[in-house]
Amino acid sequence: MSTPGAGRFITFEGIDGSGKSTQARRLAAHLRGLGHDVVLTREPGGSPGAEEIRALVLQGDPDRWSPETEILLFTAARRDHMERTILPALAAGKWVVCDRFADSTRMYQGLSRGDLLDLVNQLHALMIGREPDLTVLIDMDPDEGLTRAKSRRTAEERFEDFGIELQRKMRAGFLSLAEASPGRFHVIDGAGTEDTVAARVADTVAAFDGATA
Ligand code: TYD
Repeated sequence: MSTPGAGRFITFEGIDGSGKSTQARRLAAHLRGLGHDVVLTREPGGSPGAEEIRALVLQGDPDRWSPETEILLFTAARRDHMERTILPALAAGKWVVCDRFADSTRMYQGLSRGDLLDLVNQLHALMIGREPDLTVLIDMDPDEGLTRAKSRRTAEERFEDFGIELQRKMRAGFLSLAEASPGRFHVIDGAGTEDTVAARVADTVAAFDGATA
């Protein structure tokens, strides 16, 4: 539970093309408008070292890394991001809005290539040891998400090559993570205009803040 006046740690999760990056940006702007000091960040990345690891994990051959090595790389990036960006900001009373965090590793590395969720959780407990105060899951129809993700192809496409079956599995996986941690997760319907979804997110965060203030 957050302390009044202290920083809040909010993460956005969802399948590729769910619109979560746009919504994370919109929430950061909204919170700044309310007078909060906000750090908007993302994973993998969010600190100089972690951004270097980002290029290693998101570019190149899909078989470039074994699943286990990939988990280590994402966790290394997250540890650096925590040390250099997230924890200092929270200690200074800022709000941290982060586009993806450990739940993405639980899904993408824990579910997509074998059952490695226990390994992801063990490493998280050992090396990260903290969950967000609030996780906003932008829930989205997998076909629509894939169409959106494909329309903006970049060099960072290692995970976007896996197709519709993976998108469906990821969506179900995110929803079951949310069910398992109902206090931390809030599921937002990602259908509708950007403004509509942004209003849903703002209402959810206001309710969360009211409950923790
Ligand atoms: P991101 O830049 O958020 O892309 P998008 O906006 O398209 O969702 O994330 C890039 C990819 O990294 C995305 O396909 C999911 C993947 N990813 C993992 O596989 N594990 C992780 O722990 C994280 C944080 C991301």
